[in-house]
Amino acid sequence: MKLHGTMKIDNNQLLIGGVSVEQLRAEYGTPLYIIDQKHFVDKAKIFLDNFRSKKFQTHISYASKAFSNLYILGLAKELGLFLDVVSGGELYTALKAGYDPEKISLHGNNKLPDELEMALTNNVGKIIVDHRTEYTLLSGLAARKQKKIKVLLRVNPGITADTHAYIQTTKEDSKFGMSISDPATFLLIQDMSSDPWLELEGIHCHIGSQILNKDFFFEEAALMFSFARKLLDDYSIKLSEVNLGGGFGVYYTKADQPFNYAEFLAEYIEKIEELVTKLDLSIKIVSIEPGRSLINSSGSTLYTVGAVKQPYQGKPFVFVDGGMTDNPRPALYQAEYEACLANRMEDEPADNYRIAGKCCETGDILIHDIALPKAEPGDLLLIPGTGAYNYAMSSNYNRIPRPAVVFVEDGQSYLAVKRETYEDLIRNDQAYL
Ligand SMILES: Cc1ncc(COP(=O)(O)O)c(C=O)c1O
Repeated sequence: MKLHGTMKIDNNQLLIGGVSVEQLRAEYGTPLYIIDQKHFVDKAKIFLDNFRSKKFQTHISYASKAFSNLYILGLAKELGLFLDVVSGGELYTALKAGYDPEKISLHGNNKLPDELEMALTNNVGKIIVDHRTEYTLLSGLAARKQKKIKVLLRVNPGITADTHAYIQTTKEDSKFGMSISDPATFLLIQDMSSDPWLELEGIHCHIGSQILNKDFFFEEAALMFSFARKLLDDYSIKLSEVNLGGGFGVYYTKADQPFNYAEFLAEYIEKIEELVTKLDLSIKIVSIEPGRSLINSSGSTLYTVGAVKQPYQGKPFVFVDGGMTDNPRPALYQAEYEACLANRMEDEPADNYRIAGKCCETGDILIHDIALPKAEPGDLLLIPGTGAYNYAMSSNYNRIPRPAVVFVEDGQSYLAVKRETYEDLIRNDQAYL
C-alpha cells in the first residue's frame, strides 16, 4: 500500500500525523475517518502557490461537496481558500464555520427557491446559474429583494473526459449547464447580461471528476476562453471571470497515475495567460474548484476486523465493522482501493482477500481482491484515500450510525465530528401512537 502524507511505520504499526492508529482506535473506536491535517495543508499550499498569475487574480475554491464540516471549513478559511457549495446545507455549514460569504459560490443544477433566497439573504459572492428557469427565478428574487447579484453561467463545452460515466459532466447530453453549441445559450447570456438585477461576471465549466489526463483541462481552457472571445465579438459581452472547475485526478491504486499538481498548475497558468493574451481578453479572475485533489489523500478509514470467513467457493472475506454506509463509492461506481492491516504493517502477505462490509447487501464489498498478511478478528484494517466523497456520501443504511471524524497532526488528535449515536438515528422519528 502506498503511504500518503505523514503516514509512517513504527514497530509494525501504522502512524498518521505521529499518532498510532491503534491509539486512535482506543480513543475514538472504529470505524473512524482519520484526516492527516498537515497533508491537507500541504496540498492546499501546492494549489495556492502554483496557480498564480501576474495578469489576473486566481481563486482556489475548495469544492466542499468532497468533505464538509465545521472543522475542515475553518481550516480552509484560514488557508485563504474560496469555497464552492451546492446546497443550502453546504452553505449553512460554511456560514456557521465563519466563511466570508463574499468568498462563497453557490452551484447546483436544481437550486431550490429557498436555497437561492438563502444565498441572496446571506450575500453570497456568486451564484453559478445552470439554466434559464433558474435565471428567471433568481432575477425575480433579486428584484423583490432589491439586491443585485453577481453570477456566472455554467456552460458545457462538450468534452467527454476519460473517467467513470457517473462523473463525466460535459457530455453533450449532460444535466449540467448550457451547451456552448446551443443557440439557446447565446439567447440566455444576452438576457442575463442585460438584466438590471444580475451582474454577469463570467462563465463556469467543470468537465468531470477523477480525470488523470491533463490534456482535457488544456482543451477545456482553450474552449472556454475562445467562447469568451466569441461573446465579445458577436454580442459585445465582456466577461471578467472564467471558472474552470475541478476534477484533477488522484491516486487510489497503482492503476491511477495522477499528474504532478505543482507542475501541472504552473503549466496551466502559462497556457491560460497565453490564451488571454492571444485572444486579447480583459479577464480579471480565473478560478478553479479542486475537491478530491485537495482532500482525498489526507483521509483514511480505519476499521476493526470482525471475522475472516471462507465461503464454500471463492476468496475469503475479511469482514469489517463499516462498509457501504461509510464508503458507497465501490458499490456506486466500482471504485477501487488499497488497504493494509495497520497493526501488521511489515508482515508478509499470506492470502488474497475480499474486504466486505456489514450491510445487508451482496454488493457491500469495499475491495474485491487484495493481498494481506493473515487477517484475524480484532486486526485493524485501514483503507487510505478516503478523504473525498466518503464521509460526504455516507448514509445510515441498516440504521448504522456514521463514524467519527478525527484530524491528526504532530502527535495530537482533534475530534472534528462526533460518532453518531443510536439516539441520533431516531432524533427526527415520530412514534406511532
Ligand atoms: C461544479 C463542480 N466543481 C468542482 C467539483 C469538484 O470536483 P473534484 O472533486 O473532482 O475536484 C465538482 C464535483 O463534482 C463540481 O461539480
